[in-house]
Amino acid sequence: MEELKMLGVEAVEFSGKSSAFTLSVLGKGYVGIVTIAHMQGKKLALKMQRVDSERESLEHEAELLVKANTVRAGPQFAAVTKHFLLMELIDGYLLEEWLTTHRSKSSVQTILAEILEQCWRLDEIGLDHGELSKAPKHLLVNKADAPFIVDFETASTQRNASNVTSVCQFLFQGQSEVCKTIASVIGKRDKPELLEALRNYRKTRNRQTFEALLKQCLTNNCNTN
Ligand SMILES: Nc1ncnc2c1ncn2[C@@H]1O[C@H](COP(=O)(O)OP(=O)(O)O)[C@@H](O)[C@H]1O
Ligand SMILES: [Mg+2]
Repeated sequence: MEELKMLGVEAVEFSGKSSAFTLSVLGKGYVGIVTIAHMQGKKLALKMQRVDSERESLEHEAELLVKANTVRAGPQFAAVTKHFLLMELIDGYLLEEWLTTHRSKSSVQTILAEILEQCWRLDEIGLDHGELSKAPKHLLVNKADAPFIVDFETASTQRNASNVTSVCQFLFQGQSEVCKTIASVIGKRDKPELLEALRNYRKTRNRQTFEALLKQCLTNNCNTN
C-alpha cells in the first residue's frame, strides 16, 4: 500500500479477461499480475510483482522498458517502485484475438509490418525481448489498431538480439492459431525463401536484409500448393 501511495495510485480496478484467484485482471504471468490503476483521472497499467516470483524487483524490467521506449517500442513507462511498475495501458486485444475480427489483408499486413519494424528497432539497439518466439501473450493491439510488444521482464542487452527472427518464427513458422490465421489471410509463405531471408538477416543484419525478409513475410510470394 505504501508503494502504491508513493506512485500516486488512487484506485486499482479489477477487470479484464484474465483472472487471479477470484479477481478479474488484465493479465497474469509468472512474475506479475497486471491490473488497471486510476490516477488523476487517467487509467494506467499496473504490473504487480507476484509474491511467489523469484525476481528481486521490477526495477530491472523498468530499465529495459525505458530503453525499449527510446525506439518507440513497448508501452510508455510511467513509474516504478520495488514491486510495482506503472505504464501505458494497452486497451485492446491479444494479437490472436484481434486477428479473429480483422480479416482484411491490408490491415493484417500493416499490423505485421509494424510489429516487425519494432523488432528491427529493438535488434538495432541490442535489446533482446527474449520471449517472442512462443509467447502469444506478448503481442497486444490497442483499439486504434496499433501493435505493442509487452513484458520486458526477461529482456536483456547481454544476449544477441533476435527479436525479428523470433517473432517471425512465432508469426510465420509455427503451428499456432496465429500462424494459421495469418496464412489464411495473407497466403502461405514460400518456406525455402523465407528461411533463406531469415538466414541472411541473421548473418548480416542491416536494412537491406531486413527489408528482403519483410518482403518474404508479407507479400504475395507464395505457391499455394
Ligand atoms: N501495459 C499493458 N497493458 C495491458 N495489458 C498488459 C500490459 N502489460 C501486460 N499486460 C497483460 O498482462 C499479461 C501479463 O503481463 P507480463 O508483463 O507478461 O507478466 P509476466 O512478466 O509475469 O509474464 C500480459 O501477457 C498481457 O496480456
Ligand atoms: Mg509475460
